[in-house]
Amino acid sequence: MSVEEGNAALIRLFHVHRHFHATRALTDVTLDIYRNEFLFVTGASGAGKTTLLKLLYRGEVASQGQILVDGMNLARIPRRQIHLLRRKFGIIFQDYKLIPTRTVYDNVALVLEAAGRKPSYIRKKVNSVLRTVGMENRHNALPPSLSGGEQQRVAVARAVVGDPTIVLADEPTGSLDTESAGLIMNFLKTFHTRGATVVVATHDRELIRSIPGRIIYLQEGRLTGAPTV
Ligand SMILES: Nc1ncnc2c1ncn2[C@@H]1O[C@H](COP(=O)(O)OP(=O)(O)OP(=O)(O)O)[C@@H](O)[C@H]1O
Ligand SMILES: [Mg+2]
Repeated sequence: MSVEEGNAALIRLFHVHRHFHATRALTDVTLDIYRNEFLFVTGASGAGKTTLLKLLYRGEVASQGQILVDGMNLARIPRRQIHLLRRKFGIIFQDYKLIPTRTVYDNVALVLEAAGRKPSYIRKKVNSVLRTVGMENRHNALPPSLSGGEQQRVAVARAVVGDPTIVLADEPTGSLDTESAGLIMNFLKTFHTRGATVVVATHDRELIRSIPGRIIYLQEGRLTGAPTV
């Protein structure tokens, strides 16, 4: 059966490879991610976790193999339609990637502006999401003036403000203290409960233990059954 015939999974990777010249970041990865699944991608540093996440929203392109996201074949999406794919995702990056010269409010609002939402909707929604992550008093702050935990909370707000189908989080608790990490975990849990599919790349054993989910392991770019955490 061709990979395009089945639609049980929201995301399907079929014999996917990603090479960077001599570096084999991912080798022969075949994986289904189901709708409303909570999936942990784990493995040592350099195992290919970030590369795997990037392939899903076409932040990277597979060197070989096929990837389907919600029925879209990523190799065949015309450049002008990539924004339609990206709109399905809320992404929490390993290094936050907030715009340093824009306020907390603007960093979150820009997602909805790009999606063409009405100003009245944007105001209401951004205020509400920033309240949920406890950043309601920091609307006008610039990201460099915030602590790591606060920046991460803004990054989470930005990831979910557009009500994405899929949330990708790359080491979301990497550099946070226990309390900030707990907040982020609760937020991911809530979002999952509301119906999102959540994929988290992490080394954080606490995070993995705190949320029931499927765990997959990458070892030198290959999916393996052997736990590496
Ligand atoms: N743009 C790139 N150019 C060249 N090599 C790359 C690139 N991106 C990733 N790699 C290499 O691919 C491998 C996998 O990297 P990746 O960032 O996916 O690992 P990771 O599991 O996310 O690691 P970490 O836990 O440190 O974040 C590494 O050897 C890395 O050096
Ligand atoms: Mg990484």
